Amino acid sequence: MELDQIVNWQRTKMCGDLRSSDIGSEHILMGWINNRRDHGGVIFCDLRDYSGYSQVVFATQHDTEAFDKADKLRSEFVIAVKGVIAKRDPETINPKMVTGEVELHVKELKILNTCTLLPFQISDEQQEVGEKTRLKFRTLDLRKPAMQKILMMRSKAAQVVRNFFFGNGFFEVETPVLTKSTPEGARDFLVPSRVNPGRFFALPQSPQLFKQMLMVSGYDRYFQIVKCFRDEDLRGNRQPEFTQIDIELSFTNQDEILELMEQMVSTLFKETIGYDVQLPIQRMTFTEAVEKYGSDAPDLRFDLPLIDISDVAAKCGFKVFSGAIENDGIVKAIMVPGGDQMSRKELDDLTEFVKIYRAKGLAYVKMKEDGWQSPIAKFFSEEEIAEINKRTGAKTGDLILFGADQTKIVHDSLGNLRKEIARKTGLINNSEFRFVWITEFPLFDYDEEAKSYTSSHHPFTMPNSEDLDRWEHEDPLKIKSVAFDLVLNGVELGGGSIRIHQKDIQERVFKLLNLSEEETRTKFGFFTDALDQGAPPHGGLAFGFDRIMMFLADTESIRDVIAFPKTQQAACLLTEAPSTVDKTQLGELNIAVRKTIS
Ligand code: AMO
Ligand code: AMP
Repeated sequence: MELDQIVNWQRTKMCGDLRSSDIGSEHILMGWINNRRDHGGVIFCDLRDYSGYSQVVFATQHDTEAFDKADKLRSEFVIAVKGVIAKRDPETINPKMVTGEVELHVKELKILNTCTLLPFQISDEQQEVGEKTRLKFRTLDLRKPAMQKILMMRSKAAQVVRNFFFGNGFFEVETPVLTKSTPEGARDFLVPSRVNPGRFFALPQSPQLFKQMLMVSGYDRYFQIVKCFRDEDLRGNRQPEFTQIDIELSFTNQDEILELMEQMVSTLFKETIGYDVQLPIQRMTFTEAVEKYGSDAPDLRFDLPLIDISDVAAKCGFKVFSGAIENDGIVKAIMVPGGDQMSRKELDDLTEFVKIYRAKGLAYVKMKEDGWQSPIAKFFSEEEIAEINKRTGAKTGDLILFGADQTKIVHDSLGNLRKEIARKTGLINNSEFRFVWITEFPLFDYDEEAKSYTSSHHPFTMPNSEDLDRWEHEDPLKIKSVAFDLVLNGVELGGGSIRIHQKDIQERVFKLLNLSEEETRTKFGFFTDALDQGAPPHGGLAFGFDRIMMFLADTESIRDVIAFPKTQQAACLLTEAPSTVDKTQLGELNIAVRKTIS
């Protein structure tokens, strides 16, 4: 087909902008054919660009040549039309469209391009299109109005964030992408250096060390909207390449950081989706979150707390419970109001569910008029039953579920069980955003496999001041830190800490993490030296921008808020990256591939 190659027309309106006030005026529109309806002597097309749709009409009475040419138009052809805005016939007025009262009567048509390959319709209507197809044909997928809306909202969100920080005395500074390993708990992506054979850059897991060094350099308040790279298992809301809103402040404290960040989050939710975040955001210590909700990222849209009954369980006749306590474990309960209606099958399903989290079973009690109905009722005295009823607040018609095991297993299994029950029984209000700050994280975790301590946040986090003098003499797992996370509806949105700003404390932490003096020197010498060059007290945090966008755009998939995302197998289906490279290129890099798996 012959196309109109040169367009020296100037577009005068966007497709979504035609209104009754434009009637009688001449305009030029450009866009994609959304659909074409041939009604004999008249052809109607909906013309689309990112701003919306307009109906354009080809008819002999408007222009014969344009009408004849319009016969060739198909979905997703790119056209330019010049014509006069007219009022629609009453029966064709579409009150659902903002442009629905008017149409463009075409006097001249230019076909700018065709579209041959269309594996799915460019429409927000539900279609049976698998995600693989969407990602392979991402160009077309991104043309859908719903996807355009999300990415435009993302652009707006970035603008709001930038404005907020500029308004509060922050500087945006770019930090390197080709750098040295920054430990954030994942594997590094490595980039070989051609100029330095046998040496590698690491892509940053975060700009952590650079932002701290910027504080040492006196920049006082830094932020950056920045790509981070982590080679980790891509469960749920993770991508190997993702974006952080990264922040660092000098001469600050935890309260100042949390209050300022609440303002940022509240401005962001207000200006993008008009939502009023309730301020101040609730704060909860790590210990309380884990004890009460079994998780350091609790979903507080519903209650269903974990209730400790270890002391009662220790003395009871049910060996599973008393045995767990003898083995230094715990017994906790969840009371489900109105839960006595649960069927055997539903209870069996919940039992299978907790087994995912290594629980060995799920004891239950149904509260009937005449007391406990349960396979384990016979093991409990009347006093024990009364005490458990009192603690859980269970009344006739309710259900009590129990977990008995090592502390971590009980917290993991019941923590996830409370979310599962809330989901299944419709306790979750999906339009609510429930924020909570989790504070006072432990400084270290213990890695059972590696048999060593690891940083709970990262190694640059300041221990709590009261723990500072005695920490090396105590169980390191008891040391608390000045670290905090922002959690929304059970999802970690961001986290940070007050940092260690003195070299000797930093070196003591590295030592506890089993790093030799030599390793500390080679890996972090440049950084510990910087701490010795007049480092001010400082702290900061980073938010997962993609995760925030998932909430703002109300989507379950992190891939929906990223223009060109990777699959769960860390691949880009559009470009087919990662790909093999030829031998010459590898040779230049001094790299040999041992085995290629095709
Ligand atoms: P952290 O490792 O907690 O902290 O990361 C901060 C936030 O980044 C988001 N995030 C991710 N989002 C998508 N895909 C991923 N793979 C991924 N990994 C993390 C999360 C998380 O809360 N330097 C510190 C921050 C600091 O102390 O200032 C850091 O990176 O929303
Ligand atoms: P059993 O004595 O194994 O027949 O178990 C009796 C009840 O206790 C069943 O409902 C089991 O699911 C439950 N149960 C078994 N082990 C545990 C455990 N570790 N924690 C909680 N409940 C358990």
